[in-house]
Amino acid sequence: MRSIPWIFALSALLTLTTGCARKDATASAAATDHTSTNGPIKIGFLVKQPEEAWFQYEQKSAEETGAKLGFSVIKLGTQDSEKVMRAIDNIAVDGAQGFVICTPDVQLGPAIMTKAKQKGMKVVAIDDQFLWNGKFMAEVPYVGMSASQIGQSVGENLLAQMKQRGWSADDTAACVITFEELDTARERTDHAIAALTAGGFSNAKIFKAPQKTTDIPGSFDAASILFTQHPEVKHWLIAGMNDNAVLGAVRASESRGFNAENTIGIGINGTDCIDELRKPKATGFYGSMFVSAPQEGRSASEILYHWIKEGTPPPLDTRTKAVLITRENFQDVLHKEGIL
Ligand code: GLA
Repeated sequence: MRSIPWIFALSALLTLTTGCARKDATASAAATDHTSTNGPIKIGFLVKQPEEAWFQYEQKSAEETGAKLGFSVIKLGTQDSEKVMRAIDNIAVDGAQGFVICTPDVQLGPAIMTKAKQKGMKVVAIDDQFLWNGKFMAEVPYVGMSASQIGQSVGENLLAQMKQRGWSADDTAACVITFEELDTARERTDHAIAALTAGGFSNAKIFKAPQKTTDIPGSFDAASILFTQHPEVKHWLIAGMNDNAVLGAVRASESRGFNAENTIGIGINGTDCIDELRKPKATGFYGSMFVSAPQEGRSASEILYHWIKEGTPPPLDTRTKAVLITRENFQDVLHKEGIL
């Protein structure tokens, strides 16, 4: 395992420590609302994939924030539209005044907002931004990652690693696991591709493999088809929307005999690859753009709490940045973030 260029590591760390969450001051809800409350505050935290570590860290951090500030959190997994609608009914009965949600389907945004209004509940969208007729519902406060910037860093780091290892452009190709129906996913992979081509990587050598489901089996299947179609490729660069997308592709590459010597995979999240980076022997999963899930869970629950309690208008767009973690630095970075 070779080390990442120090200049990048340094600038990335500075980004993490100086600007974890950029609250967009120009984009905050205009009017102070007067529905503040003095009673006990309870919020829901609904996530589309409760089995994914990313979402577990978000929910856990919201719970810890609640313990500090004095609100309680109902954590739920809402994997489909029916579960979302039922959960909103249930938490309303339970006395929640609002909820944070990573919806299983961004098109559900209008239905979620209609139901929340009927119940008099406030809503903060996290990770996956609501859509209405193909447009972001920018009026709903949103907390998420700086997807395009992070995608670009994936592409730049893949290229830097490829160069450092002296791989030939002739037999190297990029496998990009895509999930283009989700905007944040498409932004990440589009910018990873843009960074590769901007760095001189041939467009003809960049192959997209669409995943049907956003989990390891989904990307394993997508990558397996692609690898079968390209037996001529001797070195693979692997990108995707998150750690699981890249992990699935790395597993698929291993089943074709590839390993850390001829594969470089860089994920996003940094929460779902901890066991991978801990493995005694390096795999093709080189690293991940770590974004702080605890920071996002904290921001989203905090702005919702102040909105409910004091009527404070929440910022409409809060973004979190990333830092590259590898086998060499992940313990330190994750320890600082309270994850390890
Ligand atoms: C999406 C992905 C998650 C995570 C979040 C981060 O929801 O499914 O794995 O990357 O974005 O915002």
